Amino acid sequence: MKIAVAGGTGVVGRFVVEAVRGNGDEPVVLSRSTGVDLTTGAGLDAALAGVDAVIDVSNIETMSRKKATAFFETGTRNLLAAEQRAGVGHHVLLSIVGIDRVGLGYYAAKLSQEQAALAGPVPATVLRATQFHEFAGQMLDRTGPVVIGPKMLSQPVAAREVGQLLADLARRPPAGRVPDLAGPQQLDMSQLVRRVAKARGVRKPIVAFRLPGKVGTAMATGGSLPDADGPRGSITFDEWLASENAGNPPG
Ligand SMILES: NC(=O)c1ccc[n+]([C@@H]2O[C@H](COP(=O)([O-])OP(=O)(O)OC[C@H]3O[C@@H](n4cnc5c(N)ncnc54)[C@H](OP(=O)(O)O)[C@@H]3O)[C@@H](O)[C@H]2O)c1
Repeated sequence: MKIAVAGGTGVVGRFVVEAVRGNGDEPVVLSRSTGVDLTTGAGLDAALAGVDAVIDVSNIETMSRKKATAFFETGTRNLLAAEQRAGVGHHVLLSIVGIDRVGLGYYAAKLSQEQAALAGPVPATVLRATQFHEFAGQMLDRTGPVVIGPKMLSQPVAAREVGQLLADLARRPPAGRVPDLAGPQQLDMSQLVRRVAKARGVRKPIVAFRLPGKVGTAMATGGSLPDADGPRGSITFDEWLASENAGNPPG
């Protein structure tokens, strides 16, 4: 099969591409660095020629509801329309566990992206995953001189295992929303940020912070945990961190 990966250069996207190849399928990377812009549609038609399935793991780094909504609405609309023109038979979307229980603006944007995918012109599969083990490092990389470690109960999963499941789902028939993927243990995100900082020798101050109001309460009390049975990754945070420290590809 030929499988396009929107966001195939990103944190999880690299693992999706590797898993697609490992399954014996042919990956096509859709990202601005390969000449495809989801927000304008540039390059999409040429890139999707002969593609059987698309896995969407594109992303915008923002906490702004407005910016996230604009990115995911426009990008998903352009992608689905191009898939329909190209005769793509399956759209697979990665989403996030708990986006309907935690009232973050970015999560609201992901929720409407899910709805657009499930109601769209191409049969879809939507997988929600918990935070990646890599997420703590993303928080370190993406903040300024003081790092905010959110008080958030999570059950993180290695991005490598997310990538493998997405690559496998793309080969199966479209299934709508499928059971949520999580990792093996419940952990506090602010502690994980501290541990990654220590492992990397990052000396910035790290402040464990509970977001105010209902959002903070939901995050601290399990709103981001899976609430039903589903697939579970086996790589623990400790194993992932040890492999990252050893200079191995994380996961
Ligand atoms: N991080 C987590 O813990 C987590 C957990 C569960 C689910 N998710 C979901 O997983 C998805 C991927 O997250 P991530 O953290 O792996 O993303 P990421 O590292 O920020 O990567 C984003 C990808 O999107 C591409 N991209 C951005 N703007 C684009 C545009 N206009 N046109 C084409 N491609 C574009 C980027 O490539 P270029 O810059 O080259 O365009 C890159 O390949 C997101 O939807 C996120 O909600 C994340």
